[in-house]
Amino acid sequence: IPPPTLHYPAFPTGQEIPAMSKNESWKFPKDFWWGVSSAAYQVEGAVKDEGRGPSIWDVLTHRATNYVSLNETGDIADNQYYLYKQDIARIAALGVKVYSFSISWSRVFPFGSGQVNEQALRHYDDVIQSCYDAGVEPALTLYHWDLPLGLMNKYNGWLDEQIVDDFVAYAEVAFKRWGQKVQKWYTVNEPIVFCQEYPYPVGYWKSTSIAPKDQQFYCGHHVLLAHARAYHLAKSLGVKGTVAFKNNGGYKIPLTNSSADAEAVQRAWDFNEGWFADPIYLTGDYPATVKEHVSSLGLKFTDEQKRMIKGTADHFAHDAYTSQFYMAPDDGLESCISNSSNPLYPSCANTTYTYPAVDGGWNATDWVPQFLRYIQQKWKPKGGIVVSEFGFSEPFEALKTIRADIQFDFVRSQYYHDYMRAILMAIAEGTNVVGCLAWSLVDNLEWAQGYTVKFGMQYVNLTTQERYYKASFFEYVNAFKVYQEK
Ligand code: NOJ
Repeated sequence: IPPPTLHYPAFPTGQEIPAMSKNESWKFPKDFWWGVSSAAYQVEGAVKDEGRGPSIWDVLTHRATNYVSLNETGDIADNQYYLYKQDIARIAALGVKVYSFSISWSRVFPFGSGQVNEQALRHYDDVIQSCYDAGVEPALTLYHWDLPLGLMNKYNGWLDEQIVDDFVAYAEVAFKRWGQKVQKWYTVNEPIVFCQEYPYPVGYWKSTSIAPKDQQFYCGHHVLLAHARAYHLAKSLGVKGTVAFKNNGGYKIPLTNSSADAEAVQRAWDFNEGWFADPIYLTGDYPATVKEHVSSLGLKFTDEQKRMIKGTADHFAHDAYTSQFYMAPDDGLESCISNSSNPLYPSCANTTYTYPAVDGGWNATDWVPQFLRYIQQKWKPKGGIVVSEFGFSEPFEALKTIRADIQFDFVRSQYYHDYMRAILMAIAEGTNVVGCLAWSLVDNLEWAQGYTVKFGMQYVNLTTQERYYKASFFEYVNAFKVYQEK
């Protein structure tokens, strides 16, 4: 294992980030947990090794031409399947507390269901043990988008209710193997994204009678059932620690103060966060607006299912990257739905802005405390809130060729600096934020954007696989050096 380089690169003159000066009323409580994250297909590589079966992403990257920028693949990625000890050592060297990563379903079940691949279990045994040996706590996500190809071929994956049994069988293997060890579990990652974007609209898979714009709701319905059953299974097996659900979305701001835009924002909460959060944290069922639409597709939870879904998260895990403006569709909601292949119902037009753009008085991280407060007030989660992903891709970083330029990721550093202050502010004003996980440990395969978009706090030379810390990693860690209670 090469010793980690602990060199903190100095910022080019004139670009220094304001120091994290101590504000006495701000603190991360002693048991606040923080870390960095990644996901199997984005970093592991080794796609043909040790019995791994194919996932839909092997097909999307190899056979769906131009689906991924530059037709890049995850075949090698960051080779973390073999380099995990180094990666863990580099995290430990900076004093990071938690490493959040996902387990590859098609390694554990090469065909998606049926026979278990013992070699994969032994592999993850060692990854988990290596984390503990290094003093880093692992957090495991069971499903981060890499569906076993067999299940897509067999019944269109998440579109079919059969996925529920198969997911629960997979979860059972993981809970039985690591449930007494691992203290932080996530069932699924960002279903809003994997149901809406990946990969149904590609039109690549077995044909289905479900219209493309409705597929997300079938997917979401089965996600909720699969998650809830896995949650109860974990509890009945006596799994230690927390089991939660990684939802995602941004803070929603009306573009104008018209009542139509206020309604658009409300629909946006319902059809994004609320789609999963209302069932899990509030009622066991969808928000009324979503329910109306979903029932028109013939999807309905029974009373028993509602009871099963309600209360199935030990904290509110939210991937919170940005805020968005919303405005009412000018031609009426219905036509907005039917005209859009990816119907983000609330609005056919919303604006996302990227750091450090400032518009209308909103700074890039200004929305964070309000967003977290909104989550607390609306969904009243037991166990508090974990910002389970946040991060930043620096514009044009992928075009830089001089390593030092990449390591001085000034804008990302500023982002982490500001984001951490925003979480501190939220905590100071009484929002129960209990943890945060920065995305990402290393530059990695950013799904359809391949390696052209980078979120890493470490740069990876994809030829030699050497890792280099970027300045932003130190900026992030420094926040805890300054503010975490001892
Ligand atoms: C959320 C996803 O979980 C992750 O896979 C992705 O790379 C990041 N956001 C950045 O887009």
